[in-house]
Amino acid sequence: MTTSYTPEALPALADRVGCIEPFHVMELVKRADALAAAGRSIIHLSIGEPDFTAPAPVVQALQAVARDGATGYTPALGVAPLREAIAGWYASEFGVAVDPARVLVTAGASGALLLACAALVNVGDAVLLSDPGYPCNRHFVSAFGGLARPIPVGPATRYQLDAALVREHWTPEVRGVLLASPSNPTGTSIAFDELGRIVEVARSRGGFVVADEIYLGLSYDRAPRSALAHGDDIVGIGSFSKFFHMTGWRLGWLVLPAAWVPAFEKLAQNLFICASTPAQRAALACFGPEAMAVYRARRDEFRARRDFIVPAMRALGFRVPVEPDGAFYVWLDASAFTDDSDAFAIELLEATGVALVPGKDFGAHDPGRHLRLSYATDLASLREAVQRLGGWLPARHRAAR
Ligand SMILES: Cc1ncc(COP(=O)(O)O)c(C=O)c1O
Repeated sequence: MTTSYTPEALPALADRVGCIEPFHVMELVKRADALAAAGRSIIHLSIGEPDFTAPAPVVQALQAVARDGATGYTPALGVAPLREAIAGWYASEFGVAVDPARVLVTAGASGALLLACAALVNVGDAVLLSDPGYPCNRHFVSAFGGLARPIPVGPATRYQLDAALVREHWTPEVRGVLLASPSNPTGTSIAFDELGRIVEVARSRGGFVVADEIYLGLSYDRAPRSALAHGDDIVGIGSFSKFFHMTGWRLGWLVLPAAWVPAFEKLAQNLFICASTPAQRAALACFGPEAMAVYRARRDEFRARRDFIVPAMRALGFRVPVEPDGAFYVWLDASAFTDDSDAFAIELLEATGVALVPGKDFGAHDPGRHLRLSYATDLASLREAVQRLGGWLPARHRAAR
């Protein structure tokens, strides 16, 4: 027998739920879906995941794991060969020696961020982050009773925190800083030397540095350097979602100061038991030469898209004051067209079928004149999107004057 209830009669939810904002972009996505259902052609430049999927050797490895039934729980830290492969990747790609014993395999970077905040943030502790920034990062902090302290950043600091900002905003209740480089939504990175200066400020205050580097493999202009090269006391976060194109596999990792591994392991055991076993075992194939060649070619494809879309958006009248150097995002300053990016994104979607994400989801610093463009879609679609925008923006601009 089912018992019916009115929502008001249910017990109250925990207060922390109220600290988490919904994704505002979902309204736009719903509208885009409705237009698509009505037969309109929609180009999504709104999606935060690669349009590629796992390469063939990884898929074959997954099939073999399923066939062989090697799918029971693993140790909470992850399977040893994968921890070694991740450590090896830091050495080969970023020139950093990481002891595999410091690697904890998690359910995506999200699982890593959750563990990091569970382990490091006490109720009332403040954590510094950039605004704009990836919204979930501030929500992980609030979920543990911490105070996410978003710091407005702009073109002068490449839309990133720098050491001066960290120093200026470090008050007694600050426990640490959560960096994300390259950034979602701006696609810009913190220069390696600046990272070092930020680490020095945090160290001098006895604070932690968590470096969310899930887009590090997708860096286009210079050989990427990891924050981990600045010391074994930094917490590094990586993921199979972006460079490895395996968003739904839910696999990521933490690199921890060695002394913290037992504490994080204890939390991981209790909160997750382990990351997905089939995903862990199959992900080993990501590091083989065949899959790596595919990943490198796809990174070059992302670079080509960036090289097309950034000048094209500038030519249309959007400002992109800082060249994005990584991830697959462009933070568009749309102030030539609007100071209400929510309304503008809907208007643009209705008129052209092109979906961009309004700035509001990424923070409170000037969201009204910003939109995030994702180029995780093929070049032909990017070209078509630019053409459609070019056919609409000038007339709209004249009408608005
Ligand atoms: C900066 C940043 N950190 C973390 C995540 C979460 O990624 P994952 O799929 O590995 O949980 C995302 C996802 O978009 C992101 O952009």
